[in-house]
Amino acid sequence: DNKITVQDLSTKLGKSASEIIMQLMKMGTMATINQEISFDIAALICNELGYTLIKNESSEIEELEIEALMDIEEDDEKDLMPRPPVVTVMGHVDHGKTSLLDAIRDSNVTSGEAGGITQHIGASEVMINGQKIVLLDTPGHEAFTSMRARGAQVTDIAILVVAADDGIMPQTVEAINHAKAANVPIIVAINKIDKPGASPDKVKQELADQGLLVEDWGGDVISVEVSAKKRINIENLLEMVLLVAEVEELKANPNKRAVGTVIEAELDKGRGPVATVLVQGGTLRVGDPIVAGVASGKVRAMINYKGKRVKQAGPSTAVEILGLSDVPSGGDQFVEVPSDKTARLIAEKRQEMQREEMLKASSKISLDDLFEQM
Ligand code: GTP
Ligand code: MG
Repeated sequence: DNKITVQDLSTKLGKSASEIIMQLMKMGTMATINQEISFDIAALICNELGYTLIKNESSEIEELEIEALMDIEEDDEKDLMPRPPVVTVMGHVDHGKTSLLDAIRDSNVTSGEAGGITQHIGASEVMINGQKIVLLDTPGHEAFTSMRARGAQVTDIAILVVAADDGIMPQTVEAINHAKAANVPIIVAINKIDKPGASPDKVKQELADQGLLVEDWGGDVISVEVSAKKRINIENLLEMVLLVAEVEELKANPNKRAVGTVIEAELDKGRGPVATVLVQGGTLRVGDPIVAGVASGKVRAMINYKGKRVKQAGPSTAVEILGLSDVPSGGDQFVEVPSDKTARLIAEKRQEMQREEMLKASSKISLDDLFEQM
């Protein structure tokens, strides 16, 4: 009953029909330009393209209201303001990532970690020469590939930590690949130079073998020899970070609906779903309705890296948020939407789609099983 053709939807949205068809394909539906699609599907496409579709009283799709949800693509140049850099520390297990962050923050997180192994993405902030930097720690253990990938995707600069007594190891290579795939500049921190077996030159050779030629070898990759433990050359490393950040000219529009990425999320016994998000554009405030993956809700409280409650979080801020209906997945995008109702609608649609996909997947498996039995 309530349908619209691909052609009509594209006209209403001011998007090309092929863009709509592409979106449909992403959802696993092949469609032609004259094909009719249901309200629900149209609503989903609108959402993907940055609009929300509102069912009006008559429920007539011809009279739909399409409200701009957010301008995902272009911010007006004049609305852009400088924002702090997000810096992610990556590298092989035990090469000293958390220790390096401890040295930068003058904190002592490393000693509090179970088994001395980082198992999540920790977010914090420091002020260096009056300039804020957002720091993300990542685990080096091989089991945490997806966290490293996520860290690389949300960051502006990657600090690649390589222990000078150990050299390039499998997760060093993996981290290099994540940073390259995300097109993120790499600053190499050759760590543990205080150790007797340290050989920075061997590390530089191995970096060259990975296509990273350091500056003192005639390349353009910045490397700094440091000791996190003895706090050697930390200032130097930070200067390089600020330098690279300056070149990047990082900007965002703080005056729009908030948008960003879920860094990690979990179900807390007392507090319910808790998500650590990185705000990348706009400003998130307590009370804002948001959608994050299949979760929705109003932001009930926000907690900053110091464990303090905050009322708002602008671009390049990592905060824990409470108030979501479900636990989103790390890597999910979150967006602020006009109302609770819109948030719930979008999340419900996504849950429905997820269920359908799971059903599809499980029916595929049972078919395969069938073949195996034959
Ligand atoms: P994962 O998070 O598990 O991947 O490890 P990590 O890279 O965060 O390493 P972490 O900072 O936990 O340090 C591992 C060990 O190396 C600890 O025992 C540190 O004390 C030691 N370490 C780190 N940096 C240095 C350094 O500059 N010199 C020396 N001698 N030891 C260091
Ligand atoms: Mg660590």
